Amino acid sequence: MEKIIVRKSEPLKGHVKIDGAKNSALPIIAASLLGTEDIILEDVPNLADVKVILQVLNELGAETEYLDENTVRINSANLNSYQTPYALMSKMRASFLVMGPLLARLGRTETHMPGGCAIGSRPIDLHLKGFMALGALIVENTSVIGAKAEKGLIGDIIYLDFPSVGATQNIMMAATHAKGETIIENAAKEPEIVDLANFLNKMGADVKGAGTSSIRIKGVNKLRGCTHQIIPDRIEAATFMVAAAITKGDVTIDNIITSHIRPVIAKLKEIGCTITEFENEDKVRVVGPDRPRGTRIKTLPYPGFPTDVQAQFMALMTICEGISKVEETVFENRFMHVAELQKMGALIVTEGKEARIAGVPKLKGANVKATDLRAGAALVLAGLIADGVTSVGDIYHIDRGYNNIVGKLRGLGANIDRITD
Ligand code: EPU
Repeated sequence: MEKIIVRKSEPLKGHVKIDGAKNSALPIIAASLLGTEDIILEDVPNLADVKVILQVLNELGAETEYLDENTVRINSANLNSYQTPYALMSKMRASFLVMGPLLARLGRTETHMPGGCAIGSRPIDLHLKGFMALGALIVENTSVIGAKAEKGLIGDIIYLDFPSVGATQNIMMAATHAKGETIIENAAKEPEIVDLANFLNKMGADVKGAGTSSIRIKGVNKLRGCTHQIIPDRIEAATFMVAAAITKGDVTIDNIITSHIRPVIAKLKEIGCTITEFENEDKVRVVGPDRPRGTRIKTLPYPGFPTDVQAQFMALMTICEGISKVEETVFENRFMHVAELQKMGALIVTEGKEARIAGVPKLKGANVKATDLRAGAALVLAGLIADGVTSVGDIYHIDRGYNNIVGKLRGLGANIDRITD
């Protein structure tokens, strides 16, 4: 079994380059099923989750090929199945994103309840409601979920009860081939939604309003091939910003779009970091304070504070002066890192969706487990400042969303190794 071993480290220093965004790459790879010509995707991050979605495409009959480490060619001309195998679906929830494209192209999709990180019940009712509004018939039994629209989909107005990222993406993709216009109201506004819309438009789709809460999609008959570069990963960037802050470091993060992580920048400033942005340059410098001050965060859909940075920020709060508070409003079970941070000496009390953190001067190394992807990153960050040795297990969660986190942290001077037990 592999583990990450972190020892108390000196303040991190230097430059780190951010990869393409996992949460952009996954829906865009799924959307490649919508056309029959070659799609070339650049800056595809080298991650376990990306490998899973490419395998899903292969199982459905699409061809996928790595042209180099981060460039993938996809051709879906021979798409021949509407059924996603359970083995892959159970590995990763985002496999669900092929449902919209399959419904659009084949008029049918059949799949299983998705897997992925155990951060709440994570239903898919909003995806299904969207498909139904476009005229699909939902087929559902104990393990299989399907949708059928043999005569094609028809555009309509869809109001989402919650701005779900996945539902917005799935409905957008399904609507590209629907007859007439589809309007998604209360749509998610995440940068990854905008990236997907830009990609679809390059393929010849007609998507307007992505990045606002009202997205309009006019159906077209055929989509073409294109080349698209995936946007930088704002969550990986934020993770390294927190790494700089927690170690009192001085780190410049390259390949970052700072407008995508405004709330994280604002909170890091609030706790005492010095943040320098560079005009017309895609980098940011973060200098951590001697002793950060406590603060409050409340996770919200974009442009609010991202739930995907909550765990890492909580690791930072464990050593902030005074009391800090976290309110998690996006997922109902995203505090699994709390028990692990407590093993390291953190003083955290949770009540429902709120956590109260009393800052301690130092943490101590412990044997902990990555309970989900971002929780795993948080524990690695905590290990950097904990006395002694921290051993992080179940690191397959971390591999789902961070490419070479150990190598990148080592490059900044961290005392960290990946070992096989
Ligand atoms: N929800 C519903 N019904 C639905 C869909 C969602 O109730 O039909 C609820 C979920 O249960 C959850 C909330 O809405 O409580 C947010 O879910 P959303 O659909 O917005 O999230 P997602 O599409 O499943 C993506 C990211 C997550 C990220 C969230 C929120 C991908 C592949 N995943 O998930 O990323 O946390 O948006 O920003 O894009 C991660 O990278 O660590 C990660 C978990």
